[in-house]
Amino acid sequence: MNVTLFEIFAISLVLLVPESLSDSLYLSHRRCSPLGTSVVTSRPDGSSDSCTCHPPPPPTTTIHPPAHKWGRRHRPPKATWKCTTILAPTMKAAPTATTNGFENSLVLVKEAKVKLRRIGVQGAPIQKGQPKLGVENGPMLIRSSGIVEFLQDVGHDILDYGNIHLGEVFNAASVGGNVSIHDPADVGEATHHIYNNTKQILEEHRFPLTFGGDHALAIGTLSAMSEYYPDLAVIYIDAHADINTVDTSPSGNMHGMPLSFVINDLYGSNSNLTDYFSWVAARIPANNVAQIALRDVDPGETAIIDKLGMASFTMRDIDRYGIRRVVDLALDRIKGKTRPLYVSMDIDSLDDMEIGSTTGTPVPGGLTLREVLTMIEDLYRSANIVGFELAEVNPALGSEVAGRRVAEISRHILSCVFGSCYGRRV
Ligand SMILES: *[C@@H]1O[C@H](CO)[C@@H](O)[C@H](O)[C@H]1NC(C)=O
Ligand SMILES: *[C@@H]1O[C@H](CO)[C@@H](O)[C@H](O)[C@H]1NC(C)=O
Ligand SMILES: *[C@@H]1O[C@H](CO)[C@@H](O)[C@H](O)[C@H]1NC(C)=O
Repeated sequence: MNVTLFEIFAISLVLLVPESLSDSLYLSHRRCSPLGTSVVTSRPDGSSDSCTCHPPPPPTTTIHPPAHKWGRRHRPPKATWKCTTILAPTMKAAPTATTNGFENSLVLVKEAKVKLRRIGVQGAPIQKGQPKLGVENGPMLIRSSGIVEFLQDVGHDILDYGNIHLGEVFNAASVGGNVSIHDPADVGEATHHIYNNTKQILEEHRFPLTFGGDHALAIGTLSAMSEYYPDLAVIYIDAHADINTVDTSPSGNMHGMPLSFVINDLYGSNSNLTDYFSWVAARIPANNVAQIALRDVDPGETAIIDKLGMASFTMRDIDRYGIRRVVDLALDRIKGKTRPLYVSMDIDSLDDMEIGSTTGTPVPGGLTLREVLTMIEDLYRSANIVGFELAEVNPALGSEVAGRRVAEISRHILSCVFGSCYGRRV
């Protein structure tokens, strides 16, 4: 066994501390027995805390110095009943409408109430917006996380509409005259179906929750959302700007173009594709859209964003201001705290280290899971989210382990969307 001098020193220090001293060092970690006993400690300032005894933790594999070196001094730690408690707050945080009462103290988290909703889940297994197969199975992977059952358990009225049937049209690249865009007829029909389905969910007074599928699906969802909510604000969370037009797209893949179809300032920029997208009405003003987590933007897109003066936040902005400030700035820019808010999230907004390339166009240097959860929780608390989509989950890419992790990540994100960030139920 390799034990460094420092470890020997540290271990001997721990072993030599008398138990009474160690008890006073760890106020919240006292011995008690048996199971279930409540221990109340009063403090001089009049506050108190109580806790319930629980059994000792299972033996750990902590390194103990070999007995022969330490003789009688070496004793295995005594198994005692421990009492662990989160110290009761000595000061009550003032609950207010905006903070829901748990802005200042974790102890109060349990007091937060979840707003129960009517939710309509739809899978949008669209794949032709980009070339990589497998993204059509994204909805299946997300559902496998158990999120639908979880939200049902929480008490939401949730109806799963299943995966949308996307039509039969199949087109090779470069159909429709002189257009360098891939599969516009196919994407046009598929997104038309997604539009119709999202509209139906809205008409049935449900919150559309969409699992993708490549991000071209947003042509359909955003068209339906903006028709139903004329003053809709949109938070678009993605490593990419997804605002290329027919003329700027370097790849010709339509998953990089959805915003150019639905932003009304860009109306007409895809007129070459009118045959397939005549049903789209570009209703959303550029001023109502904020992009977050950008780090792979094409030159043509930068020009569009600059021209429209859009609220676009790159990873550098997040480095500079922190994610909470960026969410606040973004919502202020698009007046997202007073309008219905739609959140369109691409899984590639997350750092590739988090998602293990379980997506078609992973980009390093992105959001950590922690940042994403903080962002979603802040959006939940500050805005009225009326619809959410998670796009570009591709279980065929990345390892099986990464796929399971992405499923778990999806469950955490989607729990936060409905106010259950800590797994709390009601
Ligand atoms: C497409 O446009 C280019 C120039 O813009 C032209 O050279 C080419 O002939 C056109 N192709 C078709 C099929 O119209
Ligand atoms: C779209 O059509 C216009 C004219 O209608 C043409 O000038 C332009 O090159 C076309 N763009 C593409 C990508 O084909
Ligand atoms: C969408 O709904 C409209 C109106 O009901 C219908 O005319 C159209 O064919 C539908 N589109 C698709 C792709 O199903």
